[in-house]
Amino acid sequence: MGRKRVGVLLGGMSSEREVSLKTGEAAAAALERLGHDVVRIYVDGDVDQVLRQARVEVAFLALHGKYGEDGCVQGLLELLGIPYTGSGVLASALAMDKLKAKEIFRLHNIATPPYYALPAADADRILAVHGSFGFPAVVKPRREGSSVGVTVVHAADELAEAVRDALRFDDEVLVERFIKGKEICVGVLDGRVLGAIEIAPKREFYDYQAKYTPGSCDYHFPARLSPTRYRCVLTLAEKANRAVGCTGASRVDLIVTEGDNEYVLEVNSLPGMTTTSLLPKIAAGAGYDYDKLVEAILAGAKLHAGGARASAEPTASATPSPSAATKRALAS
Ligand SMILES: Nc1ncnc2c1ncn2[C@@H]1O[C@H](COP(=O)(O)OP(=O)(O)O)[C@@H](O)[C@H]1O
Ligand SMILES: [Mg+2]
Repeated sequence: MGRKRVGVLLGGMSSEREVSLKTGEAAAAALERLGHDVVRIYVDGDVDQVLRQARVEVAFLALHGKYGEDGCVQGLLELLGIPYTGSGVLASALAMDKLKAKEIFRLHNIATPPYYALPAADADRILAVHGSFGFPAVVKPRREGSSVGVTVVHAADELAEAVRDALRFDDEVLVERFIKGKEICVGVLDGRVLGAIEIAPKREFYDYQAKYTPGSCDYHFPARLSPTRYRCVLTLAEKANRAVGCTGASRVDLIVTEGDNEYVLEVNSLPGMTTTSLLPKIAAGAGYDYDKLVEAILAGAKLHAGGARASAEPTASATPSPSAATKRALAS
């Protein structure tokens, strides 16, 4: 690939800002090693103006969570005509929204833990709503990442606090049956599964601390599964990724039980990309060192919205001139 002027979008306004800064720094350094002209774009409320001024040819998304991973920034880039890495607006929004993603999984017969959703307005009635759902259960915000606001609940008297905690991050929570088993993540690049890694946290589950404190987990690549089981997991992950419609690099999180069951927890449309993150670990096993992975992700950058602009050459300028219709609307 020739030298490109690449905007690396990092930071952002979500609870995963710090993680995004690390992902973005690592990706930007790799893009520079690859010979690209890199502009670091620290995302905030004025990102539209910064993008217009930066005049980048392509955007490399290193954002996580709200506004960055959920289709918002993707929509802005579509409007500006700047091709971007990862998934389009719809797939990003679906992947971020665990409730909608689970509805899609069910539509496609993809096993996912049993659950119910609880809007903030019903929080006071949690015990009645929970009824005979049972324990342990997992309480999580509907749209978050990095295990932020996730609690494993063992008894009824722990429910209310877990719900309150999750509601700090969203106005709706998801309560899921806790599935005991191996935690497996599958890396996907352009629809092709790269492999499955197993995470063995030394804590009760793969919570925020386990994710970001060195030494708090053991990793096994490839995941310690029988060859048949390993193939099943890859197939299920590929199916989940396709159902949600993710493109570029993504990561599917699953739990594999000791019996014969595999459950999809979620699809991450912008997975962590620090040099020690899961996706680069998986990709390394498939022959992609970190820089090669970054280059492959960049090569997949595109506009998704369809129509004339999507099929046009990437705009060298990030300031498209308004169409005649827009000019008329602005003048009236
Ligand atoms: N239903 C479940 N059963 C067992 N563990 C779960 C379940 N849901 C979540 N977890 C644990 O919580 C972690 C984070 O949950 P996840 O749904 O992947 O949200 P996030 O988007 O925050 O990563 C998982 O990696 C897993 O360790
Ligand atoms: Mg997860």
